[in-house]
Amino acid sequence: MLSKSGAKAFFIGGTFLCSAAFVGLTVDTFAKIPGQTHADRITPAVARGKNLWDSSNCMGCHTLFGEGAYYAPELTRVYTRRGPDFIRAMIRDPQAMYPGERNMQNYHFSEDQISDLVAFFEWAGTVDLNGFPATPHLTPIAAPGAVGSVARTDDRPQVFNQLCVACHALGGQGGNVGPALDRVGERFDAAYFERWLRDPQSVRANTRMPRLPLSEGQIHELVAFLSLRRAAAAAGNMPAEPVPAQPAAPSPTEGGAP
Ligand code: HEC
Ligand code: HEC
Repeated sequence: MLSKSGAKAFFIGGTFLCSAAFVGLTVDTFAKIPGQTHADRITPAVARGKNLWDSSNCMGCHTLFGEGAYYAPELTRVYTRRGPDFIRAMIRDPQAMYPGERNMQNYHFSEDQISDLVAFFEWAGTVDLNGFPATPHLTPIAAPGAVGSVARTDDRPQVFNQLCVACHALGGQGGNVGPALDRVGERFDAAYFERWLRDPQSVRANTRMPRLPLSEGQIHELVAFLSLRRAAAAAGNMPAEPVPAQPAAPSPTEGGAP
């Protein structure tokens, strides 16, 4: 049993110790914030993007750093998950990227404003949040490589992995809004692909494929890539070029080779 003065000393000592720990940890936390947030990477574009994020009430539906509403996807790591091309297309025309699903309204931002938001997401993705959001990600769409898969993704145009896989499957992975593209090179030629990628609606008036913000370079890269999606490429790691035709030699197995 403590005496009265002993209890007093215990109270004062305990209070002092806990207060010192509290103040010390607070100072420590504040000292770490500039490093963890990479304050040096907060460019004017990032700041403008943050203002748009706040004034547009994106948090009315989304969470960022775990804060906000739970109607729409968490966006802290959206830059690495989806990439700038997808984010750009999504903000420019949300309905086009998720046809017929839950609605994100179209804010009709200018291209500069969209760039600011992309810069903001790029910065947000670098912030060290002490392990948040937890890995593994539960939405592996844009990061193929699931168990049992043989699909190689490193030989694809980057824009394909960022944008097209959101709606199209290749090698068994990707979205199912549009058809799988494994053998699409057998059905269309380069000129068709080029017209299609520039403006799908001009080819098929009612198509649900959106007109995507692709650069000239990306279009050419994609046209070449799509033209090679043939049976040989789909079968695995075979040469993507079409096999040269064999000289016609009359043989009993002609046309019926296994
Ligand atoms: C009314 C609710 C709502 C608001 C407000 C909203 N969003 Fe969205 N957003 C959504 C929904 C819903 C989706 C997912 C689409 C779906 O599942 O159909 C989405 C998806 C996204 C995606 C793609 C995420 C992914 O992983 O596919 C981005 C990027 C995005 N929103 C950015 C923004 C930005 C930036 C703002 C503010 C300027 C904003 N959103 C405001 C509802 C909203
Ligand atoms: C928002 C979803 C969406 C995105 C993103 C998307 N597509 Fe599509 N795509 C579709 C839909 C839906 C169709 C089917 C169109 C139709 O039949 O009218 C289609 C059709 C196609 C076709 C014709 C296939 C066929 O068999 O008729 C090609 C080629 C194609 N897309 C390539 C691409 C490429 C390359 C990208 C990336 C730059 C891409 N798509 C991004 C939805 C999408």
